[in-house]
Amino acid sequence: MDKFSIEGPSRIKGKVKISGSKNSSLPILAATLLFNQPVIIKNLPKVEDINTMISLLRSLGSKVTLSSNRRIAKIDNQKKLKTFASYSLVKTMRGSILVLGPLIAKYFKTKISLPGGCLIGARPINYHLDALKKLGMKYILKDGYILARSSGKLKGTIIKFPKISVGATENSILAACLANGTTVLKNCATEPEIKDLTNFLNSAGAKISWKGRVCKIIGVTSLNKTEYTVMADRIEAGTFCVIATVSRGNLDIVNFDGRIIKTELDLLKKFGAKIKVNKKKISIKGPENIKSIKNIKTEEYPGVSTDMQSQLMVLMCKANGKSSITENIFENRFMHVAELRRLGAKINIVKNKAIVEGHTKFVGAELMSSDLRASVSLVLAAIVSKGKSVINRIYHLDRGYEKIENKLKKIGVKIKRLK
Ligand code: EPZ
Repeated sequence: MDKFSIEGPSRIKGKVKISGSKNSSLPILAATLLFNQPVIIKNLPKVEDINTMISLLRSLGSKVTLSSNRRIAKIDNQKKLKTFASYSLVKTMRGSILVLGPLIAKYFKTKISLPGGCLIGARPINYHLDALKKLGMKYILKDGYILARSSGKLKGTIIKFPKISVGATENSILAACLANGTTVLKNCATEPEIKDLTNFLNSAGAKISWKGRVCKIIGVTSLNKTEYTVMADRIEAGTFCVIATVSRGNLDIVNFDGRIIKTELDLLKKFGAKIKVNKKKISIKGPENIKSIKNIKTEEYPGVSTDMQSQLMVLMCKANGKSSITENIFENRFMHVAELRRLGAKINIVKNKAIVEGHTKFVGAELMSSDLRASVSLVLAAIVSKGKSVINRIYHLDRGYEKIENKLKKIGVKIKRLK
């Protein structure tokens, strides 16, 4: 298994190009199952989760042709597809559950493995199943699989989600696209990746409109061929902004509209970063002294993203006083804390709140990755640690960050990937 060796501390300077968004590409790739016309998707990130989704689409019978750099996919579903999604594929990437909505909407039946949990939480899919049931899907759970069917086309209806859920919102929008009649979804998640998905679908003739957390979908009989460029990855952009802030760095994050992560950038300004934003670029300069901030909390978009929590915690360790952050989205998303403590962090966990002592002098150590975002916080800490750190099991990182070591090397980090 690959690992990273990082020699710190590094002075960060230069320019970073942000890759396509993983969490936008996944629902858009799943959405191609709704089509019987060729679709071209551009700016896919070269990360493991996208490879998994493409393998899943191919296992369902989709004809997927990738460009040599794997950033462009031409997907052709003109022939009838299979509707079985195996455990072996679904277990490696929970986002596979997003093929449920399209398969039931288009083929009226599917057998798909339950995604199971992961390190950050149980990750149930009850909101997905309840919403699809209201649209007319009938299902039973058997041997870890969802056996679902509908008697013909799904029927538009009004659905109010009990809790805001990114995946449940996406699965319901995908299912409602081809339903008979109009569907109104209330209490939706409004992450930018979901808007990217609805922009993609509307570019193919879907009829989807938004008003705050209400999404209206007027069912259509079929979708037209289209070509679409996926948005840039806001979590990757946010992660590099934290790298600049924690290391007194000086970075230009190019080809990214900083207004999308205004909440996180406003927070970094409170930590002391100097930030200039336009729709194409973020210029960020880290402060000599990082201010401490109490009572940060992760929330659904447009609040502070849970996918930025572990990165912000590294910043809090280096602040000039005590800070705290509360994780409100996932029940077990502090896997990085034990590892940060091995680098010298003083963090106290009380339920879902982390109280972080500042002035930490990180010293390099051997570390273990756990989930995708926790792993990147270990890279951030290693960058500002004195001496050498080795980070094991970086396949977690490869799932969501495209060749992060190349991008880090270019901005001054002494990092090597060891096979
Ligand atoms: C998406 O996960 C993202 N994944 C996650 O990013 C992200 O952290 C999360 O949204 C929150 O923003 C993708 O887009 C592929 P949710 P998702 O449904 O859809 C509970 C990363 O690092 N819940 O909004 O699974 C759930 O357990 C990943 O790229 C139910 O109880 O998130 C969680 O506590 C990690 N029942 C909360 O809601 C359900 O049916 C929010 O989950 C669905 C969710």
